[in-house]
Amino acid sequence: MKTIIEPFKIKSVEPIRFTTKEERIKILEEAGYNPFLIRADDVLIDLLTDSGTSAMSSDQWAGIMRGDESYAGAKSFYKFESAVKKITGDKFIIPTHQGRAAEKILFSILGGPGKYFASNTFFDTTRANIEFSGAEAVDLLVEVGKHPEQRSPFKGNLDVEALEAFIKKVGKENIPLIMLTVTNNSGGGQPVSMQNIREVKEVCKKNDLHLFLDACRFAENAYFIKMREDGYKNKSVLEICQEMFSYADGSTMSAKKDALVNIGGWLSLNDDELAMKCRNLLIVTEGFPTYGGLAGRDLEAIAQGLEEVVDEHYLQYRIRSTEYLGEKMLGAGIPIIEPPGGHAIYIDAKRFAPHIPQHQYPGQSIVCQLYIEGGVRAVEIGSVMFGKYDNDEQLIPAMMELVRLAIPRRVYTQSHIDYVAEVVIETYKNRNNLKGYEIIYETPMLRHFTAKFKPI
Ligand code: F0G
Repeated sequence: MKTIIEPFKIKSVEPIRFTTKEERIKILEEAGYNPFLIRADDVLIDLLTDSGTSAMSSDQWAGIMRGDESYAGAKSFYKFESAVKKITGDKFIIPTHQGRAAEKILFSILGGPGKYFASNTFFDTTRANIEFSGAEAVDLLVEVGKHPEQRSPFKGNLDVEALEAFIKKVGKENIPLIMLTVTNNSGGGQPVSMQNIREVKEVCKKNDLHLFLDACRFAENAYFIKMREDGYKNKSVLEICQEMFSYADGSTMSAKKDALVNIGGWLSLNDDELAMKCRNLLIVTEGFPTYGGLAGRDLEAIAQGLEEVVDEHYLQYRIRSTEYLGEKMLGAGIPIIEPPGGHAIYIDAKRFAPHIPQHQYPGQSIVCQLYIEGGVRAVEIGSVMFGKYDNDEQLIPAMMELVRLAIPRRVYTQSHIDYVAEVVIETYKNRNNLKGYEIIYETPMLRHFTAKFKPI
């Protein structure tokens, strides 16, 4: 087989700025050792997130010019609505400015004290929106998904037995909906199988519960199903996406991922009354129902992006380029979540730096060193992001300590990825010099965005 190539050529380029190691040491110190607080211009390769960082196609840019900016009933809205309907099959398509706006609307209406929501794993903003409403968010990931070194095709699956026990324990009347995050971002970008979606749907149906998808990376999930699950090899990605959504009663979506745009999202649903309530809240917080929090041009770009994201040459390149980085790291003995996920490689910081205890944030230490070593920006997904405190102010650590290298869509070439691998490998060779960190400033919620640290 020949090399899998980037299925595009480059028409417009954006220079990246080189810095010296000495400069980066100073920049990092000034940023309180939190890469979220570094200026993007001081970053060489930015793997902080795959969200909103996609390169748009010439057709998307053409769509930007075609955008209809009418306040109500814009042409661009109907294009957007029809593109989203083609994939989700849902009756009501509500545009929002990004994923968390859809979550905020949905969980403000369905949440509240005494309510429970379950998922394979809630993403941090989703969990935060549930908890902010006073409700509880429960993760029910399959056991294999909790073991970074174990290979399994669908490590993002929800544990169906645990779901049934959960429903019995808290009572179905207290569960407004169950959510499947596809792919499972916080658990390593691992896919959920069609069989699992079907089984979860069965349980929901038996108990009269709604099933929603957190659909951010639906196309990547569908491609994994095509590659790995019996019976899907000869189906198109679009057909697989349609089947995934057919089991759900609705979805929240960050178009900043698999709609290949820089901003946007949606809330889709089928229930008339819930849709009415969501639209009312949308008008208060986001905007009129035919634009949500978006400009007409953004809706155009999403509609076009949804056509492009289900292209199988694109997905083959996308999944392969992530896997390529993962293979390079595994070849150097670096512990990562296996197999590589769809949008990112996740370093297992517990095994990378076993000498740093969890309360000294091994993931944060690696993230800082990757920046110093090569100007690569990654993100900690561990006890900085998910840690909590008990009544004695002691850290309750996260289940896993991970460092995520998220790959923006259509942005970096193979040599950029080779460079990243070199930086990670260099950091790994010198891992015994890594030091722990302590937090010197933090906020009560979503502290990882603004926390400041001090090396120990
Ligand atoms: N759900 C998942 C699974 C996500 O990964 C994200 C965002 C959201 C919801 C929220 O969407 O950012 O548009 O409000 N994830 C980004 C990331 C931020 O870096 O993984 P949003």
